[in-house]
Amino acid sequence: MRILFLGDIVGRTGRDGVLSHLSALRAQLGLDLVVVNAENASHGFGLSPAIATTLLQSGVDVITLGNHAWDRRDLIGHIDGEPRIIRPLNYPPATPGQGSVVVALADGRKALVVNVMGRLFMDPLDDPFRCMNELLTKHRMGVTVHAIVVDIHAEATSEKWAFGHMLDGRVSLVVGTHTHTPTADHRILAAGTAFQTDAGMCGDYNSVIGMTKEPAVARFVRKMPGERLQPSEGEATICGIMVETDDATGLARRLAPLRQGGLLAQTMPDF
Ligand SMILES: [Fe+2]
Ligand SMILES: [Fe+2]
Repeated sequence: MRILFLGDIVGRTGRDGVLSHLSALRAQLGLDLVVVNAENASHGFGLSPAIATTLLQSGVDVITLGNHAWDRRDLIGHIDGEPRIIRPLNYPPATPGQGSVVVALADGRKALVVNVMGRLFMDPLDDPFRCMNELLTKHRMGVTVHAIVVDIHAEATSEKWAFGHMLDGRVSLVVGTHTHTPTADHRILAAGTAFQTDAGMCGDYNSVIGMTKEPAVARFVRKMPGERLQPSEGEATICGIMVETDDATGLARRLAPLRQGGLLAQTMPDF
C-alpha cells in the first residue's frame, strides 16, 4: 500500500498548498491512502466542518487532529457524523468522535488510522501508550487490516521515539505531528515499522511555526499578551512522509520524506 501522510496544515496558505498539489501527487506517486493532520487548518486554530469537507472531497482519505481539535466548536457537533475525521484516542471516554478509523480502499484493502496525543509538555490526557495497546488488541496487520498508520501528536521527541519503539513491528508507520518542524530521522525501525519524529507542517516557514513572525516574537520578548496570532501567508511548503507497505505483513518496505513548495529544501519520494 502506498501511503502519504502530511503534517499539520496551517491556515489558508497550508490548505491551498495541499489542495494545489494533491491530485497530481496522488497520480504521480500512485497513492492508495492520504492522511493529513488538519488541527490548524482553520486560520491556525482548529478545523471547520466546511474545510474538513473540502479536504475530504479533494483526495484526503482521513484527517487527524491534536490539541487544537476543539478550537472550532462547530466541529464538536460534526465529528460524530464524519468518521474520516479522528481526534486523539486518549481523550476521556464519552468525548465526541473517535480516535481511530478503519478505511476501505476502492480495491477492498483496509487501513487503520490512529491519532494519539503525547502528555509531556501538553494537556495531559489518558495514557497514550495504554490506549494504543488496548486498541491493538482489536486490530492486527495481515489479519484484520493491511496497514496501520499512527499520528502521535506530541511535543517531546523522547515520547515520540518511545511510542515508535513500543509499536515497532505492530504498525506500518508511526509519524509525529505538532512541532511543525520536519525531522531528518525518518527510517524503518528494527522490526519493520516506518518512523519519523515529526512530519513538519504544511504552511509558510517564514514564520514562527506557521504564525506571522512579529507578534509571535513579541510574545517571547515582552512576556505580555499581545496581538492575536495570525497564520503567515507566504507560499507553503507541504511536508510529509511517504511509505510503501507490504500488504501481507503491513510492514514498511520503503519510506521517503516529501517537501514541496515554499522555503524548505525540496524533496520528493523517488519510488
Ligand atoms: Fe499543529
Ligand atoms: Fe498541536
